Amino acid sequence: MRILGIESSCDDTSICLMDITDEKIEILAEKTASQIDIHKKYGGVIPEIAGRKHAEVITPVVEEIMKDFDKPDAIAVTAGPGLITGLIVGVETAKTLSYLWNTPLIAVNHIDGHINSVKLHLEADSPNQKLNFPILSLVVSGGHTELILSREKGHYEKIGGTRDDAAGEAFDKIAKIIGLDYPGGPKISKHAVDGNPKTIKFPRPMMDSDDYDMSFSGLKTAALYWLQDNAPKTENNTFKLEPQILDDFCASFEQAIVDVLVEKTVKAVKQYKPSNVLLVGGVSANAKLRETLKNTIEHISGTDFHLSALKYSMDNAAMIAAAGYNYAKEGKFTNWREVQADPNWKVYQKVENI
Ligand code: KG4
Ligand code: ZN
Repeated sequence: MRILGIESSCDDTSICLMDITDEKIEILAEKTASQIDIHKKYGGVIPEIAGRKHAEVITPVVEEIMKDFDKPDAIAVTAGPGLITGLIVGVETAKTLSYLWNTPLIAVNHIDGHINSVKLHLEADSPNQKLNFPILSLVVSGGHTELILSREKGHYEKIGGTRDDAAGEAFDKIAKIIGLDYPGGPKISKHAVDGNPKTIKFPRPMMDSDDYDMSFSGLKTAALYWLQDNAPKTENNTFKLEPQILDDFCASFEQAIVDVLVEKTVKAVKQYKPSNVLLVGGVSANAKLRETLKNTIEHISGTDFHLSALKYSMDNAAMIAAAGYNYAKEGKFTNWREVQADPNWKVYQKVENI
């Protein structure tokens, strides 16, 4: 089945044409137009600018992807959660194409997309691996930090998550105040490679609490206090750290986040005994988190660990097409007239499939 995936929930306009069956996934064409260079100037995504940019590029990108192909069998579009300004552009484009091509439409939840990203590999043509339930997903991105349990097909249950900032948000905000460009996560992790994570003892809020909840705003405040006490301010209102201290600060901050995420995930694995653990979302590109969680889970018998290819850990349309396939193969489409962008759509509110 050929599916056209459309993703525009944040700052990437991504389109992918995929040939997918139960056995294999073949990416026929894909392109992501990133807005990072635009939002960098502001230190974060400006929703109005994002919406305008998505509207400007989405049609040319769809045309480019489809230029050598006939119309697809289905269209899968991110309908939420995300920024309403971006979601609307993707959803309206998908509805228009669905009407024009008379092609069925699937509204995909962005988190469902991230969860399905583990099926994507870098080879253009790769197996569509089937994962046994229960599946525990650690979804970590700029907007989400959640532990989601799927006991069977069609079941998503949130067992825990952040009570305040998402992990990616904490990375981005701290990066901004030490003068690193948006998105700050990758920059912090790059500096962290050369730093000593034991240099600064940052707190690990809620790490030992009895539940699967987390909190990153206290860590952010602790980092801010440390900077106020230890680093001079620049005229841009950011803190200036000498190169080695910058590396040590980044390594210590990253370690605190990784420790909390790993501890909570392992605790959930011990309780729920999933067959598979998935680490997905933009923050899953973090090498320290990937390695630490992989090494820890691999020592727990009966549980396998899965990551998406780095390229597909960030927002992309291939993961939306892969998630859409689960619905399309069962004929679960939505009439284009009824599909609406929902910035607060929770994957575990509406029980769907995996
Ligand atoms: O999933 P994603 O592309 O967009 C959202 O749905 O939010 O995630 C983007 C987030 C940003 O906060 C970014 O800083 C973070 O993922 N991120 C990282 C790394 N790469 C991306 N955080 C830590 N380490 C990284 N290597
Ligand atoms: Zn995302």
